[in-house]
Amino acid sequence: MHLSPLQSRLAASLVASCLLILLYLVLFPPNFALAAELNEALPVVFDDVDSAVPPGPIYEAEFSAFDRSIIGRATRDVIPLDNDEPLPMNVDQGVTQPFVFLLPPVSERKAGEDRLELRREHNAPGEGHASAGAGATELEGDREDGGLDVEKRQAGQKVYISANTCLQPQPIDPSKTTGAPPQLKLYVSTSPDNTAPGPLADQATQDMFDFKEGAVAYSITTDREVYIGIYAPDSETFSGTYNVRITASTDSQYYTYSKRGVEDLILVDSDSQGALLITQSLTDSKDPNEQAAVMRTQPYVLFAHNKKDRAINGVKHSYCGLYNYAQIAATKDERQTGTVKTSMTKRHGDVPKQQFFFIGLNSSAEYIGILVKDGEDGGNLGKRQTAFERGPQVFEAMEFTTKSDHGNCALVIDLSFCDKVAYSVPSNPNFGNSSRLAEFYDNYAASVYANFDKSLAQVACEAPSSQLYSLARNCTSCAADYKDWLCSVTIPRCEDFSNTAEHLQPRAVGQPFPDGETLDEATLAPFRKRANRAAFMNSRNPLIDEMIKPGPYKEVLPCDNLCYELVRSCPASMGFGCPLPGGVGFEGNYRVHKPSEGLTCNFPGAAHTPSAGGRAVVDWGVMVVVMAVGLLVV
Ligand SMILES: *[C@@H]1O[C@H](CO)[C@@H](O)[C@H](O)[C@H]1NC(C)=O
Ligand SMILES: *[C@@H]1O[C@H](CO)[C@@H](O)[C@H](O)[C@H]1NC(C)=O
Ligand SMILES: *[C@@H]1O[C@H](CO)[C@@H](O)[C@H](O)[C@H]1NC(C)=O
Repeated sequence: MHLSPLQSRLAASLVASCLLILLYLVLFPPNFALAAELNEALPVVFDDVDSAVPPGPIYEAEFSAFDRSIIGRATRDVIPLDNDEPLPMNVDQGVTQPFVFLLPPVSERKAGEDRLELRREHNAPGEGHASAGAGATELEGDREDGGLDVEKRQAGQKVYISANTCLQPQPIDPSKTTGAPPQLKLYVSTSPDNTAPGPLADQATQDMFDFKEGAVAYSITTDREVYIGIYAPDSETFSGTYNVRITASTDSQYYTYSKRGVEDLILVDSDSQGALLITQSLTDSKDPNEQAAVMRTQPYVLFAHNKKDRAINGVKHSYCGLYNYAQIAATKDERQTGTVKTSMTKRHGDVPKQQFFFIGLNSSAEYIGILVKDGEDGGNLGKRQTAFERGPQVFEAMEFTTKSDHGNCALVIDLSFCDKVAYSVPSNPNFGNSSRLAEFYDNYAASVYANFDKSLAQVACEAPSSQLYSLARNCTSCAADYKDWLCSVTIPRCEDFSNTAEHLQPRAVGQPFPDGETLDEATLAPFRKRANRAAFMNSRNPLIDEMIKPGPYKEVLPCDNLCYELVRSCPASMGFGCPLPGGVGFEGNYRVHKPSEGLTCNFPGAAHTPSAGGRAVVDWGVMVVVMAVGLLVV
C-alpha cells in the first residue's frame, strides 16, 4: 500500500501523538495521582498485603518535611498492623521501618479476650503469658500515659508484639567474616510525642529491644495506639536487606521461643550418614483411643544444620529464618528436604512420640536440630493457616554428632520381629543396604525365638492359676521378656571403635575395617594379653564376623536387668539364669543398668537421654541365679 505525502504526514503525527501519550502515562500513571490523593503510598512488601488505611488522623502531621530531613533515608511510610495478622516487610540496612497498631474496637476486643482464655488453657502450667516464663526474649513495658480521659483508661489492655527475621544480609567476603549479621532492633512508643520510634527519637519516650537470633517478643499495656519501629543497623561486612515478619496481637505472643528444646528432642542413635531423633511422649494418657488420636498427628517440624555452616547463625530463634536458611528441613510443605523423614512411633516406651530419621549427613560431623511446634492447635484461629501464619514456637537447639567414616556402624529401624530395635548395629557397606542389614539381624533373632517358642509350648501356660509356675507372671510375660532380652543380645548396639567411653566393650579388634584398614600392633597388644581375649577378638555372635565382617567396633552391652526380668518371668524349668556383676560370664556380656549415667547399657527403646528411663533394676534379693547364660548357650 502506498501513502500520499499528506497521508504519511498524518500517520507520522499520529504515531508521535501516541508515543507522547504513552510517555505521559509512563511518567504520570493515573494510580500515582490517586495514591497522592490518599496521602498514603502502599508499603513495599513481599506478599500482597491488604493494608487498608486505618481510620483516624494519626498520620497527618507526623512525617513533616522536618522529620524527614532528620531521619534522612530512614523515612518510610507508616504501616498499620492488623490484630493477629503477621505482616512481612523488607527493611534495608540503616532504615527504620515504622508501624502502628490501633487497639481493636471494644466489641472485637471482647471476642479476643474470650479467645485468649481458650488458648491459655492449652498452655503448660507455669508458662505464664506467652513466652516470658520459657526464657524468651520478652520485655514488658508499662508506660503511664498522661492526659487521657477516664473512659479511655478503662479500655487499657495488653498488646503483644513479636517479630521474626526471615532474611538477613549475607557476608560480602565469606572467607573473612565469621560472625552473624547485626540483629534488628525493635522500638516501641505509646507516647503522642513520639510517633516514629527509632534510634534517632527521644529515648525517654520509647523502649528499645534487640532481636535475639532473629526473634523478639514484647508486651505492653496501653489504652492508645502503639507506634513501632524496626531498625536495621548498617554493616560494612554484610550486604543485602532484611526481611521481617511482625505481628501485633491483643491475644498473646504470636512468635515465641522456648528453652525447653533440650528435653524436647532426643537423639536415639546416629551412624556415619544418618541419625534418629525423637520427641518426648506427646501424651500422658494411657487411653488407647486418645493415644491413637495422637498417633494421627504430627505436631512438630524440625530443622537441622551442620554446625560448621554459619548460614543459620542469627536466625536460630526464628521460624521463617530457619525455613529459609536451614540445610535440612522436615516440614509439611514443599520445603521438606528428602534427607529427613518424620512419622509417629510408639517404639520408645509404648507411648506416642514423633520421630525424625535423617539420611545423607556427613560422617564425624556435628549438627544442630531445632524443633518447632506450629500453632495449628485450636481450630479457632481461622486466620492462621498458611505456612508461617500459625504462631510457631521455636525450641532451643540440640546438638548431635554422626559416627566416623569407617562406616561399620549403621542405623537400622522398622524391624518386623525386633520392633523395638532402632539403633546402630555392626555393619559393612559391602554387605548391602540398611534394609538388608536389618533383615539379617531380625531373621536371626526370629529364628532363635522360634526354638524358644517350642519350649514354651511344653510349659503348662494355660493351666488353672493353682498350677501356674508363678502368680505374678505367666507365659505371656515370659515370652515378652524373652523377646526383649533376645533382641538386645542378638542385635549388638554399635559405637565407633574410636569412642573411648569406659562402658563400651571392644569387639572384633583383630579384624580389618570394611575399608581394609587394620588396627596397629600398639593398639592391639593390650587386647592380646587379656585372659578373656575372645570377648575382644570376636563379635558376641560368630555369625556377625562370618557374614557381615564389620571389623573393630565397640558394643553398648545389654542391661543386666533384661536378664533378671527374663529369669523372673519364665518357668524355672526352662533353666534360664543370669551371671552376677563380678561373677563368671558377666563382664563382656552385660552391664549394670544405672539410668542416672545415661545410655551406658542397651535395652529396647533406649535413647541418649538420662531421663528416658528403662525399666527399674529388679530387686536383687528376689533373684534366683542359676548359672551364667550367654547367647551361645541359647
Ligand atoms: C557435608 O560437608 C560438605 C563439605 O564440608 C559441605 O559442603 C556440606 O554442606 C555438608 N553437608 C551436610 C548435610 O552437612
Ligand atoms: C536394598 O537392597 C535390596 C536388594 O538387595 C532392594 O530390593 C531394596 O529395594 C533396597 N532398599 C533400599 C531402601 O534401598
Ligand atoms: C498374663 O498376665 C497378664 C497380667 O499380668 C494378663 O493380662 C494376661 O491376660 C495373662 N496371660 C495369660 C495367657 O494368661
